[in-house]
Amino acid sequence: MPDRFTRETTSHAAQDSAEADNGPRLSSSELRHLAINNGYKTWQPSIQSTGLRSSELTHRTLGQGPSSRIAEQYLLASRMVRGDVRVQISTRPYFNDDGLRTVSLIGQEDAHPDDVVPLPSPQAIDTTLGSAVAGRRSRRSFASEEMSLQQLTDIIGHSIAETGRARVELSDGGQVQFPLYAAANGGGLRPIDAYVLPLRVEGLAPVVHRYDKRRHALIRTPNAGDAARIVDTCISPPDQDHLSRASAVFILAGRPWRSMRKYGARGLRFLFVEAGHVAASMGLAASALELGAVECGSLCDDEVHDLLGIDGLFETYIHSVIVGRRTS
Ligand SMILES: Cc1cc2nc3c(=O)[nH]c(=O)nc-3n(C[C@H](O)[C@H](O)[C@H](O)COP(=O)(O)O)c2cc1C
Repeated sequence: MPDRFTRETTSHAAQDSAEADNGPRLSSSELRHLAINNGYKTWQPSIQSTGLRSSELTHRTLGQGPSSRIAEQYLLASRMVRGDVRVQISTRPYFNDDGLRTVSLIGQEDAHPDDVVPLPSPQAIDTTLGSAVAGRRSRRSFASEEMSLQQLTDIIGHSIAETGRARVELSDGGQVQFPLYAAANGGGLRPIDAYVLPLRVEGLAPVVHRYDKRRHALIRTPNAGDAARIVDTCISPPDQDHLSRASAVFILAGRPWRSMRKYGARGLRFLFVEAGHVAASMGLAASALELGAVECGSLCDDEVHDLLGIDGLFETYIHSVIVGRRTS
């Protein structure tokens, strides 16, 4: 199937000369569409509405009508405000010895040895950052072929894996080791985890795994759902199509309370930012390995939670990255 988003590459130089001083030229029909969509619309989800209608939920989010403005309330509630003593009180315990010890232990979780699937060590990807960035595109045409376990590990190694350790001296004379990760994470709290759904990966059973950063291993989740069920959680037929031909899907899930315990409502913003870091690095790594990758925002949250075996509040699905072998 042709990639519905495929388009000609436009160099910066060509773009500059075409749109130099006046910006892009719009045709009269494009202007008409803009006028209809933006100039004359009511958001009422009723039969009388014209222009773009919005669902009741979107409507409520926008604050039209009697309902509360959910999105705005969140933006207000999560602002950093000068002199807010609550921030000082909630962040201070993270810097004493007990706090540092606790943070150093984050991510150490039990796993039954039978459920631990060891991964090879990530290998350096032989390319420049410049060419990985220049070559990155969302690619949706996948060849329904296996990717190697090493490629999977290399993507993990360049996006969410541990890449070092720092030794922190405590005031009581002790010391702790802080793991350091490929992606920046607020306060070093590491609230983002990757679930790996190997649809076609050499040597891996096609069931749901969680990537364990501390062990650098995959852990088969307790109910180990069938990875292919991810296709059914997707509401968009074109996305379902490329999902079904992919080699692996990474689901990024976060633990909001780990960040919100320290940063309040603002911690939730951090989670989204941090998942973005990981997703971006996954895309770059896939590009450098000459695989295709595309982020996907059209999965139904609760169905994903069900598949991963997480509750959606203490641990919640945030984003996903689909990876596969390119068709050409
Ligand atoms: C948060 C987010 C969600 C996305 N969701 C989808 C999606 O559901 N389906 C899809 O085909 N592409 C999705 N994309 C990819 C964008 O469509 C793509 O990045 C955009 O068209 C720009 O193209 P490029 O990535 O090739 O530069 C998503 C990207 C982001 C950042």
